[in-house]
Amino acid sequence: MVSRVGIIGAGLMGSGIALAMAMGGKDVVLYDVSSAALEKGIQSIDKSLSRFVKGGYLSKNDAANITSKISTTLELKEAATDVELIIEAVPENLDLKKKIFRQLDEYAQENTILATNTSELSVTAIAAVTKRPKRVIGMHWFNPAPVMKLIEIVKGVDTSQVTVNIVRKVSEEIGKEVVLVNDSQGFVTSRALAAHMLECMRIYEEGVASKEDIDKAIKLGLNYPMGPLELADYVGLDTMLYASEGMVEAYGDRFRPPQILRKLVEAGHYGRKSGKGFYDYSEEGQH
Ligand code: CAA
Repeated sequence: MVSRVGIIGAGLMGSGIALAMAMGGKDVVLYDVSSAALEKGIQSIDKSLSRFVKGGYLSKNDAANITSKISTTLELKEAATDVELIIEAVPENLDLKKKIFRQLDEYAQENTILATNTSELSVTAIAAVTKRPKRVIGMHWFNPAPVMKLIEIVKGVDTSQVTVNIVRKVSEEIGKEVVLVNDSQGFVTSRALAAHMLECMRIYEEGVASKEDIDKAIKLGLNYPMGPLELADYVGLDTMLYASEGMVEAYGDRFRPPQILRKLVEAGHYGRKSGKGFYDYSEEGQH
């Protein structure tokens, strides 16, 4: 039974996962390397909670109870001890994830499950740096984590069925639906999403249509909730670039990142989280 969860990284995904877990009744310890990062994560949690209150899904009292279930720490060890499950949500860098998993393996109790929220890296390679590959698993969440229904559970080569069952149960306890996939670059969702988004970026680069019209076409013509370019800004262009680079290695040139994606990332325009991407989200921007 999982009642307390450690979350590593308070960015866009880590803070969303922390909130989804707390809304599902779990106690959460949220870790990041700086107080500024933790503060930003808590602000985003508060903002998300106020949307639920405004929408009538939660009372102010519920929101306060949920907030009280989330504590923060600057000590990795604190987020790794006395928890049954740890979910890592740091940037998509394999070396960084391996470094963190080595430390988590050292700090966490023997039975604690270590999950990674990677959207495309090898769960098997991350598991291999630990002494508990049976208890390492992929738990791929979607932004905004408290709203999106799915968790893609990724089974590494050595992940045990018991680990899969426990992670499936926790996911269902907090009201999510799951799919189970074998470890393969980009799993189901990131591979399909990258193919769609990269092609739409190429359509834009070729000057076939304006970005607004590409987004409108996909939204209204294909009934997607968001257009591909606004969704890329929402997910994070840096994340999309790393994901497509990883998929080039696995599947070849069809995932080659378009120049526009590379240039925006080089300029530090990561999408919504940095204030600018395909669209401008700053005070002066109109989007
Ligand atoms: N926290 C809490 N509530 C939120 C929220 C958040 N962060 N974001 C949206 N909501 C709520 C709103 O309050 C609203 O509730 P009401 O309808 O009761 O008012 C509801 O969700 C809908 O929101 P909006 O009306 O503002 O806007 P919308 O109808 O366009 O929905 C959306 C927003 C849910 C984000 C929707 O646009 C959507 O589903 N977009 C696609 C998101 C998606 O594809 N995510 C996956 C990306 S891939 C990924 O994350 C994985 C990866 O590895 C890259």
